[in-house]
Amino acid sequence: MEAVGAAGGLLAALALLAFGLYCCYVKYIHAKHDHIPGAPRESFLFGHLPILWRMVRKQEFIHDLFLQWAEKYGPVVRVNAFHRVSVMILSPEGVKEFLMSPQYPKDRLVYGRMFNIFGERFLGNGLVTVCNHEHWHKQRKIMDPAFSRTYLMGLMETFNEKAEELMEKLEEKADGKKEFSMLTMMNRVTMDIIAKVAFGLELNALSDDQTPFPRAVTVVLEGMTKKHIPLMQYMPGKQKLVKEVKESVRLLRRVGKECIDQRREAMQNGKEATLDILTQILKGDALEETRDDESILDNFITFFVAGHETTANQLSFTVMALGQHPEILERVQAEVDEVLGAKRDIDYEDLGKFTYLSQVLKESLRLYPPVPGTVRWMEKEHIINGIRIPANTTLVFSTYIMGRMERYFKDPLTFNPDRFSKDAPKPYYCYFPFSLGPRSCIGQVFAQMEAKVVMAKLLQRFEFQLVPGQSFKLLDAVTFRPLDGVMCKLKPRSLARGCQA
Ligand code: HEM
Repeated sequence: MEAVGAAGGLLAALALLAFGLYCCYVKYIHAKHDHIPGAPRESFLFGHLPILWRMVRKQEFIHDLFLQWAEKYGPVVRVNAFHRVSVMILSPEGVKEFLMSPQYPKDRLVYGRMFNIFGERFLGNGLVTVCNHEHWHKQRKIMDPAFSRTYLMGLMETFNEKAEELMEKLEEKADGKKEFSMLTMMNRVTMDIIAKVAFGLELNALSDDQTPFPRAVTVVLEGMTKKHIPLMQYMPGKQKLVKEVKESVRLLRRVGKECIDQRREAMQNGKEATLDILTQILKGDALEETRDDESILDNFITFFVAGHETTANQLSFTVMALGQHPEILERVQAEVDEVLGAKRDIDYEDLGKFTYLSQVLKESLRLYPPVPGTVRWMEKEHIINGIRIPANTTLVFSTYIMGRMERYFKDPLTFNPDRFSKDAPKPYYCYFPFSLGPRSCIGQVFAQMEAKVVMAKLLQRFEFQLVPGQSFKLLDAVTFRPLDGVMCKLKPRSLARGCQA
């Protein structure tokens, strides 16, 4: 008995010693970073976390607090959490220095969190999450041809076809009374598009309400947002969600596997492969010494998720902004009428004529970027904006915050597409909704072609009205999306004009 007591005492003493040493380490980290401006810490150990936890509990948008900190303490701002310090870099000099150079890899701790969810492999080492520069560069070089101008021009037919299917679905709703979520509809169309053009899959998310894919993606992203809650995986009340998340990840990977097997078989049978994203993923694998189906699936999931969610969010935010600004809506609608008239199929050449629509889409990305920013790891000490940042620090970049800062954009909260007119000054290194430099979005041109086709058809055919009473807040769900889903009512345009007459 005495021995047990002694062992217990020893363990307690060791635990106390370990805790004491850890506190000394935290103190040392504070001393090393406290010259960097930042809001007062609320807790020695937890740093700024209690403030953020409180906001998350109240369902407040923490990026708006970061914006306040940026205005008050910026442009270089420290955030503490235990022994970790992240530094937000909110100056054009900093953005240019760190994002344009291949020297600063993505932060493993941040991107590694997306490797799996609740033990199920999710994005793994796909193109978005891979941190090792060589590994990334090899993948990116192989994927680039699937995003070349000539290849993208060939996608116009699918963009038109799927956008037309969306218009048919919207026509069914367009009685001026039915209320529906524009986000849901945009998610379905962009999902059908990416499945078809990237993998040759007809998902029919638009026509088939029962297809499990849209739900699976929503559930997985919900899992991603919630998984940082400590021990969530083991909480009795959360088992249903955890199970559903795991099943959804398995579903996505299973379909990916079937799709890959079919394509390989077709290629082995001498069928000429289309130059799509899947072909490029398989080519990349063929160059590897050992076949690794898990890595192929990482990219299947990466392109499937990154290739539709973001565009759907951009499109629905744009509808939200236009619904709030009738004069801008009228102007963009007039442009679409002028370029298209009653024409159904939009040509590649037409896209260049949508000057104002393009400005509207850019302005939407400034105020409502679907991806708020990016994170880098800095291995060596660096001085930026006169502030010394110690080695081995996580650097955070946010186009959401910079896009809303008075010092970079006059009257920043006003939705004003003229900021992006030909003669306006260019927002260098303070606006980067597709990130910048080597790790910038491979799908930027793809996404903006697709967005223009969908928006132009929508504006050509319908008058839309936002359902009153909804909030126009943002939700941080890995990507930023409209919290209330942009609830709309539609009328066909001829009918709407008839009503006005
Ligand atoms: C409005 C739509 C889109 C937005 C706002 C967007 C934004 C971004 C951003 C900010 C990044 C950098 C992420 C980071 O640093 O962690 C990124 C990377 C990426 N995006 Fe997009 N994206 C969009 C559409 C697309 C589409 C349509 C595709 C594919 C067809 C795509 C595929 C990718 C991939 C593969 C990467 C990783 C690139 C690399 O590291 O080499 N994205 N995107």
